[in-house]
Amino acid sequence: MSSSSLLPLISSFTSLPSTNFNRTIKTQTNQAQGFRVSCNQTPDDHNDKKLILPQAQKLVIPNVDRRNLLVGLGGLYTATNLTSMPSALADPIKTPDITSICKEAGAGVNNKEKAIRSLKCCPPSLGKTIKDFVFPTDKKVRMRWPAHAGTKEQVDKYRAAIQAMRDLPDDHPHSFVSQAKIHCAYCNGGYTQVESGIGNGDKDIQIHNSWLFFPFHRWYLYFYERILGKLINDPDFALPFWKWDEPAGMPIPEMFVPETIAGKPNPLYDVYRNADHIKDRIVDLDYGGTDRGLPNEKQIESNLCTVYRELVRNGADTLSFFGGKYAAGNDPVLIGDKSIGSVERGSHTAVHRWVGDSKNPNDEDMGNFYSAGYDPAFYIHHSNVDRMWKLWKDLRLSGHVDPTETDWLDASYVFYDENEDLVRVYNRDSVSLNKLKYNYIENSKEMFPWRNSRPAKRNKNLQVTTNSDVKKVDQINFPVPLNKIFKVRVKRPAVSRSVEEKEKANEVLVIKRIRYDSGRFVKFDVFVNDKLKDDVVTTTCDPEYAGGFAQIPHGRMKNMFMLSSARFGLTELLEDTNTDDDEYATVTLVPRTGCGDLTVGKIEIILVPVAAV
Ligand code: C2O
Repeated sequence: MSSSSLLPLISSFTSLPSTNFNRTIKTQTNQAQGFRVSCNQTPDDHNDKKLILPQAQKLVIPNVDRRNLLVGLGGLYTATNLTSMPSALADPIKTPDITSICKEAGAGVNNKEKAIRSLKCCPPSLGKTIKDFVFPTDKKVRMRWPAHAGTKEQVDKYRAAIQAMRDLPDDHPHSFVSQAKIHCAYCNGGYTQVESGIGNGDKDIQIHNSWLFFPFHRWYLYFYERILGKLINDPDFALPFWKWDEPAGMPIPEMFVPETIAGKPNPLYDVYRNADHIKDRIVDLDYGGTDRGLPNEKQIESNLCTVYRELVRNGADTLSFFGGKYAAGNDPVLIGDKSIGSVERGSHTAVHRWVGDSKNPNDEDMGNFYSAGYDPAFYIHHSNVDRMWKLWKDLRLSGHVDPTETDWLDASYVFYDENEDLVRVYNRDSVSLNKLKYNYIENSKEMFPWRNSRPAKRNKNLQVTTNSDVKKVDQINFPVPLNKIFKVRVKRPAVSRSVEEKEKANEVLVIKRIRYDSGRFVKFDVFVNDKLKDDVVTTTCDPEYAGGFAQIPHGRMKNMFMLSSARFGLTELLEDTNTDDDEYATVTLVPRTGCGDLTVGKIEIILVPVAAV
């Protein structure tokens, strides 16, 4: 139809295969009306009640740990910090001594018999006691460099360092295998919350799917980088980063591709990658498990829109960006209100899945958390994820502030440092790159190549006037299965807010109690106010696309199912779709992969004050 040609971006998508977002949504909606309530679902409320017990318990047990924490860190705190210290209710996650309290992991690995990597992920014990972290006194700041544009010297040093790591015996805490296992232990059920005063070893620590995601991985890379530097005797050694937010950096960096270099194995090569994606292919930051076959310039455009969406639109307040609160006593698997942050569930997950080999039994290496650390690409991917945290703050938008709650600040992890000492590190010490003595080399001219990738305002001529045939939230029996497209109207807390009101609070769509098989890759996409005429194709760069929810397989042995929730920023979306005056927003959930038994427990729209945490 002629309307398509009004938007050149859209018209170029019309010839694409059906894996693309397309306008079959409307015709399929009617089928979704006859949803059925999943009969094997775990009632979330029931689980919430079970959690009250340990919560109450921990108020009775004197919390000696917290005292130690205050004494041990005395030097690092100012008086003001101390007076703001806890409240009996503050209970940060505290990682135990990783060398003594660690159990075999392997959770979330569906196909354990065929697991390619070891499921024994505990670190070696050298009989050391845990020291408190001290900020580095290095004279120079380590400058992490874009992996696609390294100098010969940078690349050679990096290769030499990874090779030196590979040459260490596996049971050395600095070995390639030991470093890979850190990830497995922290996210596949290696550690428990005993040290946080919870349970008797039955509650795991899970550093994904919550506000621990950014700080945990920052610390992981911090030590990894210093260990590599030490191995090649270079105190200035800095990691590369996979700059997938800039067009030139979007394919997997060339230095990772060859199997051999001058007749020797390339230490950056990993055999367990999706071969179809490696050579010169541009990564898909909205990857849903199938190749969309976009021409390069469209893929680049889509990626830039994705980064914009995750850092600006869906990351407009602290918890939307970081992920929801997660403190001791929370069960990472059963709390359905704990949300996953915009980057974590989006580009972060997409790159994991895109690199990992889906032909392997558990999508090894990058496609499963237990094995991801075995691919050197994991660390350059995560250094860019870490950089997203920095860029998010550098945008200096209101609402872009680090969490200030004690439960976040005092959460701690234990790592082996570059001197093979066991060190306890806190989230509160992770926020300043200056203090950690590393930073990222930026292109000062174009630091945010995606800054202008806000979707263009929807042309009203392409929209139909009403969606009133769609059921409202209170006419629906939740949870609803997402085995097909689901559409619902959700009441908004306020309409047509003024500029000042919008500056004070963001309008956020919250999809809660998303219950899914933790052993599978899942993805569904969210569209809001998709009131388009039938022949209009929606793309990742269109304003109606709120973003996706994607999960890398993980979890733990006893619980096949996990619960999570996700937040999507609506303030700009509603403006850009000309629907800011509507009393209801129409939310469309489109299953992409692994959603056969996924259910959604609640959908609501709330106002989130931007400065508050
Ligand atoms: Cu700990 Cu990319 O995951």
